[in-house]
Amino acid sequence: MIVGRFPESRPRRLRRNEQIRRLVRETHLTLDDLIYPLFVIPGENRVEEVPSMPGVYRYSVDRLTDAVKEVRDLGIPAVILFGIPEHKDEVGSDTWSDEGIIQRATRRIKEEVPDILVITDVCFCEYTSHGHCGVLRDGEVDNDATLENLKKQVVSHARAGADMVAPSGMMDGMVRAIRSALDSAGFSHIPIMSYSAKFASAFYGPFREAAQSAPAFGDRRSYQMDPANRREALKEVLMDIEEGADIVMVKPALAYLDVISDVKQNTLVPVCAYNVSGEYALVKAGGRLGWVDEERVMIEMLLSIKRAGADMIITYFAKDVAKLINGGKI
Ligand code: PBG
Repeated sequence: MIVGRFPESRPRRLRRNEQIRRLVRETHLTLDDLIYPLFVIPGENRVEEVPSMPGVYRYSVDRLTDAVKEVRDLGIPAVILFGIPEHKDEVGSDTWSDEGIIQRATRRIKEEVPDILVITDVCFCEYTSHGHCGVLRDGEVDNDATLENLKKQVVSHARAGADMVAPSGMMDGMVRAIRSALDSAGFSHIPIMSYSAKFASAFYGPFREAAQSAPAFGDRRSYQMDPANRREALKEVLMDIEEGADIVMVKPALAYLDVISDVKQNTLVPVCAYNVSGEYALVKAGGRLGWVDEERVMIEMLLSIKRAGADMIITYFAKDVAKLINGGKI
């Protein structure tokens, strides 16, 4: 590759003013990149801010649609739903009940805001009394027993009107199990966005507070990935694609930009990155303390995720960025 040499080449020529910088800019944040996460809680007329996530709220079903309309009106194409059920039990049976929290929320959104894509998070940790992502046997998550419950969960989500399902439990074989369940129930048109490379991360802390989903004992390291592993992430992703994943995800995003880049370069499917709760909370906290410029840090982080190769980003910043984009500020 030929690169110029100084003094013939002066890279600063292309940085002299904003107009020229716009012309040569390689990466852009657009509304099309964004997915906004929403937490749904039981009860009525409830809108509660998550203490460790300023600007992020949990909504009861009756207050949810206004929140979704705001997201739609900002031009964001999709939301992903997380539910906190009225009752938790050993197996997380709310997840496959047609009257479950996610099913009710999905139906309501599809009735009142049909022009937004509803993605449902498919897992058990918010719904089980022990907070693990599946069925327990002798203190461990039983992989194959959990697959059976996952099948019931996705079919029920699809019946409620979910446009896409996003399994996040890191069970082996979950994509194949879900694909076959959806296909046999007449939902072969519903895509699967798999949390393929999900790491056992401390960056999920604020989410677990918001979703009341911290494990009651132990941790998730027997199913979520070791943060030290890069090649294994690609293996997980390739296995998921073979099982039928339409979109693959890397999560968290910022400490795993190398993984996002690997996945982008070695696959032909769209890549999603999850800019998780802890990544959001740190920026908000730094901004509140006056230690960093929150807005600029946010843009820089999201750009880095895109530059690494993400085609879409699930982010609690989605509304903030959309406002900047709509105001012509970025
Ligand atoms: C599991 C799930 C988690 C997140 C999304 N789906 C939490 C976990 O594995 O404990 C975390 C998202 C975030 O931190 O923003 N259902």
